[in-house]
Amino acid sequence: MSSLKIEDLSGIQGDILLNGFPKKAEVFCFFTIRAAQAFCQNIQAVANSKIATGKDIKDLREQISKLPKGQIIDVAKTNIAFTSRGLTKLSNAQSSLQKGLNGLQSSAPSFVGGMQNESERQQLGDPVFNGWNLNQNGGGPIDGVLLVAGINMKTVEAELQNVLKQLNVGGEVVVELFREAGVERASQPGHEHFGFNDGISHPQVFGINDSPSLNFQIDDVVQSTDNSNFVDPGVIVVGRHGDENSPKPQWMNDGSFLVFRKLEQHVGKWNDFVINQWKNAGSKGPAQFSAQLVGRWQSGCPIFLEDQFDDSKLALKNDFVYGGFTAQGKCPLAAHVRKAHIRTGFNTSRIMRRGIPYGEDFLPGKPDVGRGLLFACYQSTIEDGYRFIQTAWANQRSFPSQDAGLDVTIGQGKATDPPSPFQIGTKSVNINPINDFVTAKGGEYFFAPSMAVLKAGFNIGNFGARL
Ligand code: HEM
Repeated sequence: MSSLKIEDLSGIQGDILLNGFPKKAEVFCFFTIRAAQAFCQNIQAVANSKIATGKDIKDLREQISKLPKGQIIDVAKTNIAFTSRGLTKLSNAQSSLQKGLNGLQSSAPSFVGGMQNESERQQLGDPVFNGWNLNQNGGGPIDGVLLVAGINMKTVEAELQNVLKQLNVGGEVVVELFREAGVERASQPGHEHFGFNDGISHPQVFGINDSPSLNFQIDDVVQSTDNSNFVDPGVIVVGRHGDENSPKPQWMNDGSFLVFRKLEQHVGKWNDFVINQWKNAGSKGPAQFSAQLVGRWQSGCPIFLEDQFDDSKLALKNDFVYGGFTAQGKCPLAAHVRKAHIRTGFNTSRIMRRGIPYGEDFLPGKPDVGRGLLFACYQSTIEDGYRFIQTAWANQRSFPSQDAGLDVTIGQGKATDPPSPFQIGTKSVNINPINDFVTAKGGEYFFAPSMAVLKAGFNIGNFGARL
């Protein structure tokens, strides 16, 4: 399979590589397709005029990099992704796609079954998604999602209306079912609701992040000088080198699978737990204890590098390794960032995270619901990416080594499981198997096709022999 070059970015949707859309606000607009034929027609024009490519985002980020720090550009960008059901619906209008969906069951089973499939729910450890996907606007299954992100909600909203209008040329082609809206927290920009700097560590992609023609800095994260944080492009982009293990139909090349999850964060419960348990954990105080649970201090400073205080000078450090599966060092083995990225091998289980917080800040004494993270991530194979991190690592008390503990942030066990010890040094605190702090409220698996597929209106007849 071929490598990836910076010139290829114009064929890939823009949220996938190079840190994705620059954003402070984002709407995920979930839609159903009412007229498949018309959709296949209209998406061609929308792809040409509205869907942001990797090149568009590279150019935008380059423009931003030349502005004075903190200054931004008032634009919103759009991408689109489809559920397996949505693609099947489109295949009724495009017979070539019908053939192209053959075999997906074996190469992308989670995608085909969907996240709300009962066996999938059990495997992920999710609760039943009550009250999500209420289909307020006339019902119908989720066929796809429009992701529109930008600098403020007003611009995002205007862009979304524009795109919907273009998709609906000639009648009711798509109907918005419901939406999820996220915004950067004004009180702590860049930090999620538990208070931690988020969006620091992303895999670097060979051919893109090391390209000599990427002649500006994408972000201020301090990366290793060696290749240890690099992944083959095919870990994220379908059909590129590194995606050999579960070959998908050729028309899916240069697309990526998108996992979306609405994760409610119970900030009050988290704060209470931290305040009540830090002594039992042998920690020096609540700030250190919560940093041990996450693996970074609130500034982003890796606790593995500095475990005594939050050294904000180290906030964007990403050039470290933990030293294996058993040596705890300064970072607990079950800390969220360590579980989710062990930093030794497993290079196919890396994801591009693109989340954004939703809801207002928590206020003590007020309801502990209605806020959290709209988690989104891209990968070439859901089974190796999100799903592996969730089920084989976060949910397993014995990863990376015996009784390391559940991931306090996202680990999910069964109600019948005993409490899991979260080890810090020689001490441990008990963690309930049903996550007290983060509750999955909804989610779905999507596929974000290449620009070529969108521009061809899903007529994939000419996309190579191996459909
Ligand atoms: C409400 C839920 C979540 C919260 C509060 C949260 C919080 C964080 C924070 C604060 C970081 C460190 C900053 C950074 O490197 O960007 C981080 C990193 C990370 N998270 Fe999460 N996260 C959540 C959900 C998830 C989920 C569902 C997954 C995947 C299953 C995930 C996977 C990762 C990964 C892979 C990293 C980077 C680790 C590294 O490379 O060092 N997170 N998360």
